[in-house]
Amino acid sequence: MEAEKIAPLMCPGIAGYAAFKLTGARKGDRLGLYGFGPTAYFVLKVAQSKGVEVYVSTRSERGIRAARAEGARWAANAAKEEMPCRLDAAILFPPAGNLVEPALSQLERGGTLVLAPVSASPIVIGNYSENLWGRDIKTLYNLNRADAQEFVELVDELDLGVGTSVFRFAELQDALILAKHGELEQSNGVIKVADAL
Ligand SMILES: NC(=O)c1ccc[n+]([C@@H]2O[C@H](COP(=O)([O-])OP(=O)(O)OC[C@H]3O[C@@H](n4cnc5c(N)ncnc54)[C@H](OP(=O)(O)O)[C@@H]3O)[C@@H](O)[C@H]2O)c1
Repeated sequence: MEAEKIAPLMCPGIAGYAAFKLTGARKGDRLGLYGFGPTAYFVLKVAQSKGVEVYVSTRSERGIRAARAEGARWAANAAKEEMPCRLDAAILFPPAGNLVEPALSQLERGGTLVLAPVSASPIVIGNYSENLWGRDIKTLYNLNRADAQEFVELVDELDLGVGTSVFRFAELQDALILAKHGELEQSNGVIKVADAL
């Protein structure tokens, strides 16, 4: 596989796989994904391969369309449209602390919420009894070699492809601006620093 195809597997891919494992979701479970960037895409694919139903909440129409096209059972903006059911587990991707309590409130008791961001705005849980009691919160912290090994094997097994927009190093600024505005043609942007030897 070319280096530019492998690069997205190494960060969003392995991170998504590790986040999925933290949820403990099993066949027949309902898994919520808040945000639908590259990491969530890989979670969706892995979850589907394990027989887990996926419910996606994201704001942009483009994200909603992409999640539906990839096979999400339900995709909409949960801030505007109620999810059709409670979830067994969920992963929150945006670094938005204000989304934590609504995400917890959508979980069944006994459910797990995984927080994926490396930083986040302040998290306030106002209603402990209704929204937190009986649920677990975990954070995605360390990615290890075993996660990488297992994920790479899954990539082969599922023939997991991913679209990449490739930029030269000199185009880095333009690529960042496109990514910030959600205007990359493909779901992942890769900066090619040098040609492989
Ligand atoms: N811990 C680790 O090792 C690790 C590794 C990789 C990634 N991560 C984390 O995983 C997260 C996802 O990264 P990514 O690069 O795959 O995705 P991303 O491109 O950052 O996308 C995040 C998604 O969240 C949605 N979003 C953003 N702000 C929102 C808000 N205020 N409310 C609702 N939705 C919002 C965006 O879509 P809409 O605009 O459509 O809502 C987008 O689909 C990041 O927080 C990153 O830090 C962690």
